[in-house]
Amino acid sequence: FNPPPAVNEPSLSYAPGTTERDALKAELARMKAEQVDIPMTIGGKKITTGDRVAIHPPHEIKHTLGHYHKGGSAHVQQAIDAALAAKPAWEALPWQERAAIFLKAADLISGPYRYKINAATMLGQSKTPHQSEIESVAELADFFRFNVQFMIEMYEDQPLTEPGSGIWNRVEYRPLEGFVFAITPFNFTAIAGNLPGAPALLGNTVVWKPAETQVYAAAVIMEILEEAGLPDGVINMILVDGPVAGDIIFEHQDFAGLHFTGSTKVFQHLWQTIGKNLPKYRTYPRIVGETGGKDFLIAHPSAPAAQVATALVRGAYEYQGQKCSAASRAYLPESLWPAIKTLLVEQVGSIKMGNVEDFSNFMGAVIDERAFDKISGYIAEAKKSTDAEVLIGGGYDKSEGYFIEPTVIVTTNPNYRTMEEEIFGPVLTIFVYQDDAFEATLDLIDRTSPYALTGAVFSCDRGAVDFATHKLRHSAGNFYINDKPTGAVVGQQPFGGARGSGTNDKAGSIINLYRWVSARSIKENF
Ligand code: NAD
Ligand code: ALA
Repeated sequence: FNPPPAVNEPSLSYAPGTTERDALKAELARMKAEQVDIPMTIGGKKITTGDRVAIHPPHEIKHTLGHYHKGGSAHVQQAIDAALAAKPAWEALPWQERAAIFLKAADLISGPYRYKINAATMLGQSKTPHQSEIESVAELADFFRFNVQFMIEMYEDQPLTEPGSGIWNRVEYRPLEGFVFAITPFNFTAIAGNLPGAPALLGNTVVWKPAETQVYAAAVIMEILEEAGLPDGVINMILVDGPVAGDIIFEHQDFAGLHFTGSTKVFQHLWQTIGKNLPKYRTYPRIVGETGGKDFLIAHPSAPAAQVATALVRGAYEYQGQKCSAASRAYLPESLWPAIKTLLVEQVGSIKMGNVEDFSNFMGAVIDERAFDKISGYIAEAKKSTDAEVLIGGGYDKSEGYFIEPTVIVTTNPNYRTMEEEIFGPVLTIFVYQDDAFEATLDLIDRTSPYALTGAVFSCDRGAVDFATHKLRHSAGNFYINDKPTGAVVGQQPFGGARGSGTNDKAGSIINLYRWVSARSIKENF
C-alpha cells in the first residue's frame, strides 16, 4: 500500500463566467429550497427525536434551511455504547483499510460533494464562496489526505535493532483504550471534520458533538464519511447541549480522550471536570484543545505601508474576524501611521458586506445573536470611551441578519479592553507607538498575550525581523513574517497555539496524530 504523496487541494476561484460559479449557485438554490431534517447518527442509525431546532442562515434570519433533531442524555449514552461496540472491529481492521476510507472521503469532498459542502458552509456559517472553499473543501480534504501520510510516517517510526543481535524491537501504535470525545466549534467545517476524523483514522471510535450553529455542514460531513464506507459506530454524531454530553461522557470509565476546539473558557472548564473525575477512568485521557486567541500584527518602521494595510484588512475582516487566527490588535509606528490610516479608511470603507449568496460581498454576517450582542457591545463601549476612537465602521444591525460593519478602533491605551480580550468579530484595534520604541513594544505584546495563537511582524530590516522573532518566541504558536496571521495550510504551517490558546498539538501535523495512539514497545528474542 503506497498512496501517492499528499498534495494540497487547489481552491476554485468561482470567478464570473466560470462553470464552477454556476454549479455553486445552482447548489445554493437547491439547498435553500430543500428544507433539511437532520437526524443524529448513532451506531449508523438515523435518530430523530421530534425536538426540532430550526436552522437559519446568519445573514438571512427570516429564512429557514430546515431543522435538526436535538437529543438528550439517553442519546449520549447510546453514542458511547455504539462507539465501544464498534471499536474491536475498527481497530482490528488493517490500517490500509482505514486509510482508504479517509482518502475516499477526501476525493468525495474535492469531487462530487465539493459544491454541496461549500454551499452548506456558506449558508449555515455565512461564509463567502472563497472563505468556504479554502476550508470546507481544500483544508478538509487536506486534513484527510495528509493525516494518512502522517499516519504512515508514524507507523514507520521504529526503534533500531542492532544488526545480528538476535533481537527484534518494534513499537506498536495502538489506538487509545476506550472512546474519544470530539467537540467542534462553529467557525471551520474543516475542523469539524478533522477532530473526529484524525482519532478515527488511527483506529479510535468517536462520539462527536458539533457546535449547534454548525450542524448544517456537519451533516454533510457525516454523509460523506458514510458514503466513503466508514463503518457504523466509528463516528457518532450527537446533537445535544454541551453540558448534557459532558455530564455523561466525563463520568464514563472508558473516556479516553478529548479532541476539542473552541473557547478557552469552555476548554478550561472541561479540563477541570476531567481532572476531578480522574480516578474514574481506566486510563489517563488524552486532552487536546485548540482554543482562543488575541492575535497581533506589529509593523517595524521599515515595513511597506501598503503591505501592512492589506494584511490588516484581510487578516481582520475575512470571515467577519471569526477566525481564531484573525488579526485583532495592531501595533503601528508613528512614522507609518498616516499612510496606513489613509489606506485603511479607504479599503475598510469600501468593503462590501451582505448576503453571501451575492458573490461580490467580501463579508457576511456573524454567527448568531449572542455573538452579535457581544461584538456590538465592545463597539458601543469604544464609542463612549475616552481611551478609544472608532476610526471607521462601528455600525451594526440585526434586522435581516447579524451584520456588523468592519470596524477599526484606535486607542492610546495599550491595555484597552479590545487590545487584550478576544472579541471574535470584525473589530481591529490599533495602538500607535513611537518609532524608537519597537523593542519596548515587542515586550508589551509579550506581556499582554495571555493567549499565544498567531502573530505577525512586518519589516524590511532583517535585524528587526530576527529580533522580533526571538522576542516573541512564546507569544504565538504560528508566527508570520511579512504576511497576515491567518490562513495556515495543512502540511505547510502546522497550526496551534500555546498559553491560553491551547495544548499546541498542531492540527494538520504528525504531532496531533501521536496524541491518538498509545504506543506499545515489543522486544522479541529470536
Ligand atoms: P465555544 O467554546 O462556545 O464552543 C465550542 C464547542 O464547545 C461547541 O460545540 C459547544 O457546543 C461546546 N460546548 C460549550 N460548552 C460546553 C460544555 N460545557 N461541555 C461540552 N461542550 C461544550 O466556541 P465557538 O464559539 O464554537 O468557537 C469560537 C472559539 O473557538 C473562539 O474562542 C476561537 O478562538 C476558538 N477556536 C480556536 C481554534 C484554534 O485552532 N485555536 C480554531 C477555531 C476556533
Ligand atoms: N487554520 C486557520 C487559519 O490559519 C485557523 O486561519
